[in-house]
Amino acid sequence: MYSPRFSKQSEGLHSADADVWAVSDRAHTLADKGEDVIFLCVGDPNFDTPEPILDFARARLGVGRTHYSPAAGEAMLRRAIADIESKVSPHPCDPDDVVVFPGGTNAIYAVLSCLLNPGEQIVIPEPMYIGYVPITDALQLDVKKVACPPQQGFAFDTETIKQAITENTRAVMINTPVNPTGAMATPEQLRDLAAYCRARNVWLISDEMYSMITFARRHTSLRAAAENLDNVIVIDGLSKSHAMSGWRLGWAVAQGEMVERLIEFAGATIFGVPQFIQEAAAFALEFDTYFVKQMREAYEKRRDLIVARVGRIPGLSCNSPEAGMFVMVDVSEVAESGEAFAEALLNAELVSVLPGKPFGASAMNHVRLTLAADESELSRALDRIERFVAGGCLKAG
Ligand SMILES: Cc1ncc(COP(=O)(O)O)c(C=O)c1O
Repeated sequence: MYSPRFSKQSEGLHSADADVWAVSDRAHTLADKGEDVIFLCVGDPNFDTPEPILDFARARLGVGRTHYSPAAGEAMLRRAIADIESKVSPHPCDPDDVVVFPGGTNAIYAVLSCLLNPGEQIVIPEPMYIGYVPITDALQLDVKKVACPPQQGFAFDTETIKQAITENTRAVMINTPVNPTGAMATPEQLRDLAAYCRARNVWLISDEMYSMITFARRHTSLRAAAENLDNVIVIDGLSKSHAMSGWRLGWAVAQGEMVERLIEFAGATIFGVPQFIQEAAAFALEFDTYFVKQMREAYEKRRDLIVARVGRIPGLSCNSPEAGMFVMVDVSEVAESGEAFAEALLNAELVSVLPGKPFGASAMNHVRLTLAADESELSRALDRIERFVAGGCLKAG
């Protein structure tokens, strides 16, 4: 009998933690059976991609923009990305510094693939985006997590990150604003960390997927804050800000030889993002002020609604996140853990939230609520959560 053997990369992916989506998978099963489940677990914008972007893409499809494109990305999109990077930074960004990928996930995979060998160390603050896990598992990286505990509002502590860097560390990867906590690094922290990493000959990667969804203050890009750019890589994309998650469009901005390496990687693995999508993405970036603002304002109202309602539920608490698409709710007074809360909430009230633990140990007493649901849906869910907690659910098990 044939006995299949697979690569270590594939084995790494295969063994990645399957429990992450356990509660949400069960929620989908219940919904398929006709139950009235409210999903507050998704990170996919619940807005349609704005109509002008759709029109533009249709028009470009109509003129045959359906062929191969350069591995680095179409010139007009690289220029549009370089322009927005230049606008917010003292360092001008050249279109040649930009490499286009089909989504942020693929950009992260490419960046880490170019920088680290199996067994090498990467420092990542936690709570962190769940999507890093299969990538670092596939590449068999030694992930050293740095806690950003709830007592410090999940905020970055640059000193702790610096202390985690050793002789074995090849890269640090931060995420600002953070999924799931909404925490944002300050310009000073970014400048300091970039200089420290450079002095230690360590790459600093910044995932800035939520850069355009900030409420309290504007996002500062690592590229804008750092004094020197040669060890700095920024990843961003349109999935969240432009409600274009399904278009698969992200990018990395780097310098010099790293750009060449990324282009070679993109050439070998994806061989170009569809032309009409890249053109629509460039259009979206050039004409986006109005609809990005509209969506950001909607997210902000939803955040305020959740924070106000959670604040009135005895036993629950939350910070008001500065940015991003999520609110982390502390359930430690009413449940053994975020997992126990999420599980019991789904059973009792058919509301699906994500437990905090898969994002990192610091979030184990939290659950993550999404802002990607409209206000009436959020209100309905919070009515149920309120009733659930008032029912005295959980602490015993
Ligand atoms: C922090 C963070 N980085 C990257 C991604 C992946 O982005 P994309 O959907 O463009 O692959 C996500 C998506 O949820 C995210 O939250």
